[in-house]
Amino acid sequence: MKKFFKAQQVSPNVWWVGAIDWNVRNFHGYLTDRGSTYNAFLIIDEKITLVDTVKAPFADEMLARISSVIDPEKIDYIISNHAEPDHSGALPAAVAAIKPEKIFTSAAGAKTLNLYYGDLGYTAVKTGDSVDLGNGKCAFVDTKMLHWPDSMVTYYDRDKLLFSQDAFGMHLACSKLWADENPWSVMEYEVRKYFANILNLYSEKVIALLDSLPGLGLDIEVILPDHGPLWRKDLDKIIQLYRDCALQAPVPRAVVVYATMWGSTKVCAEAFADGVRSKGVEVETADLLVNDRSNIMTKVAGAGLIAFGAPTMNNQVYPAMADIMNYIKGLRIKNKIAFAFGSCGWSGEGAKQIAALFDELKLEQPLPMKQVKYMPQSNETEEFFNAGAELAEKLLEKINNK
Ligand code: FEO
Repeated sequence: MKKFFKAQQVSPNVWWVGAIDWNVRNFHGYLTDRGSTYNAFLIIDEKITLVDTVKAPFADEMLARISSVIDPEKIDYIISNHAEPDHSGALPAAVAAIKPEKIFTSAAGAKTLNLYYGDLGYTAVKTGDSVDLGNGKCAFVDTKMLHWPDSMVTYYDRDKLLFSQDAFGMHLACSKLWADENPWSVMEYEVRKYFANILNLYSEKVIALLDSLPGLGLDIEVILPDHGPLWRKDLDKIIQLYRDCALQAPVPRAVVVYATMWGSTKVCAEAFADGVRSKGVEVETADLLVNDRSNIMTKVAGAGLIAFGAPTMNNQVYPAMADIMNYIKGLRIKNKIAFAFGSCGWSGEGAKQIAALFDELKLEQPLPMKQVKYMPQSNETEEFFNAGAELAEKLLEKINNK
């Protein structure tokens, strides 16, 4: 059955020909509760060029959108900015339909695409290279490890567009193509979530890239990421948001992340949170058994004070906490005031393992880890309240002194 979809024009010579994945809820472990999009773009120049493709099951949708503008066989070039399968999965189908003269990608991209799909005939490009399309040209900029070794971005000078692949994107399926047509609160939340879960560990590289942008001499009017809405207004705003995410500067917000078996750690978590609140610092508690890890990471990235609490089970930290510890370790959170706590019956490794992780991440721990036996007594819950109040004050001092 032939699918029917239409392209949408985004500039005088460029069309959006991507796919909307309304129903994806698990993107390699990332909770995409608002779905996602896989953006691909068609440049109509003397050399007609497809920039990126879509996830494999959406190849028909992309080809149908292309066909609403031009016969796919008229396409001359394909540019693959990123080899991850959400953007390259439809490449074999695209190549079969288009029979392109050339496929441009980075050297690492050529190797990776070759492993995924075999040799489709790749031409490796690097920073400083460009390809002449007739009226305009596409210039390539390596963005290695943002967030794969193959990652690069492409600038089309005729329409002043930056095809930024994953950068400046978000997982969001929506009817409105442009970010400025959607509520800023949703844009900000989803960008922060995407950054926290995908790019946080490469924060230094993001800052270096943002710092290098003016020196690249690219006159960028529109940013076209491979996920979510596109940016044509207030580019400074999204660039500053990226810088904020990458810097992880302390903010007056706290999150208390906990797991609990019989309620003891929860009682401690709630008393701590109430202490934080008593100092006017915004705080929330998050039970690991009902919160997805990608949402927990978003909350952690957006907090200046984090408290992690868990019981001990089988002489180890409780499994749900071990999972999130492993996750935030990989994503390398920084610049936080941290507090480890928990409850145990006897051996008590749980809170100690959390404190050790915070040490490893070089997070500031003004108070030693705190652990109760079996059930917190009333003097102990008061101590947790006081600990929350004390660390909230320390957070405010840190923010005021920066
Ligand atoms: Fe959206 Fe790294 O792929």
